[in-house]
Amino acid sequence: MTDKKESCQCDERQAIKKEIALKATVSAIKKKILVLSGKGGVGKSTVSTNLAVGLSQKGYHVGLLDIDIHGPNIPNMLGLEGFPPMITDMGVFPIKMYDNLHVISIGFFLEGKDTPIVWRGPLKHRMIEQFLSDVRWGELDYLVVDSPPGTGDEIISIVQLLDKVDGAVIVATPQDVALADVRRSIRFCIEGSIPVLGIVENMSGFVCPHCGNTVEIFKTGGAERLAQEYKVPFLGKIPIDPKIVQAGDDGKPVMIYYPDSKPAEAFSNIINKITEVLKV
Ligand SMILES: Nc1ncnc2c1ncn2[C@@H]1O[C@H](COP(=O)(O)OP(=O)(O)OP(=O)(O)O)[C@@H](O)[C@H]1O
Ligand SMILES: [Mg+2]
Repeated sequence: MTDKKESCQCDERQAIKKEIALKATVSAIKKKILVLSGKGGVGKSTVSTNLAVGLSQKGYHVGLLDIDIHGPNIPNMLGLEGFPPMITDMGVFPIKMYDNLHVISIGFFLEGKDTPIVWRGPLKHRMIEQFLSDVRWGELDYLVVDSPPGTGDEIISIVQLLDKVDGAVIVATPQDVALADVRRSIRFCIEGSIPVLGIVENMSGFVCPHCGNTVEIFKTGGAERLAQEYKVPFLGKIPIDPKIVQAGDDGKPVMIYYPDSKPAEAFSNIINKITEVLKV
């Protein structure tokens, strides 16, 4: 009987400790940005990494948190795979990309690249909670959260755990089918009182490297029209560019690899719009 009571009190104390640690982490983050989309493969991780890198290049202290538990791509996209975070009595130390850019992803903790994750909602919630409560993020100007497609368990958890998300960046591709999914993301933000920082139209036109003409592979302008319809800002278009694929595969985002490229210029403009709205 006494044993049961003691273990109960111990659990309670652990829960209170976690709660305090979570509050401490969250209150040390000035602005929290959630990158989301209704659809998979539209470029969320590409946008998240370039956003985080671009913000750090401007001198801000940035954290990049990958909550795509089933498909954590951030370690690969930043060339950080194979560097497990240091776990100490004082907590987990995020991976340092630069002095002012730190990264956490479930990908850092998996044994093999092909390890499947078969967790259900409550386990995912606990993992995301630990990414905040147990990780020593320190003081951050911006936390950029890369999310899985849709508005499932992970997104609901992070929104709840962060207490208040300062802004959502919604990534879309221009074709109509993808735009139907974007509507769901916008509605999710509106219903959850998450301010929409704006929509990014990714894979918007391809500039032929030979003749210089633009080919609208997935059409263009759809996301801009949708932004007008929902009265949310349009953040900009990012063209289809093989440099983005190469940079992502080589673990060096275009903001680092090709800083003078069209996509890097587009990301820079988007970052300027975001920092204008979310001042720290
Ligand atoms: N503008 C672009 N031009 C060319 N390739 C791009 C562009 N944006 C993204 N890609 C490529 O498309 C692929 C998917 O991008 P990414 O992983 O960022 O999408 P995602 O939305 O995060 O996907 P998931 O839903 O699986 O998490 C990657 O190989 C990436 O390099
Ligand atoms: Mg992704």
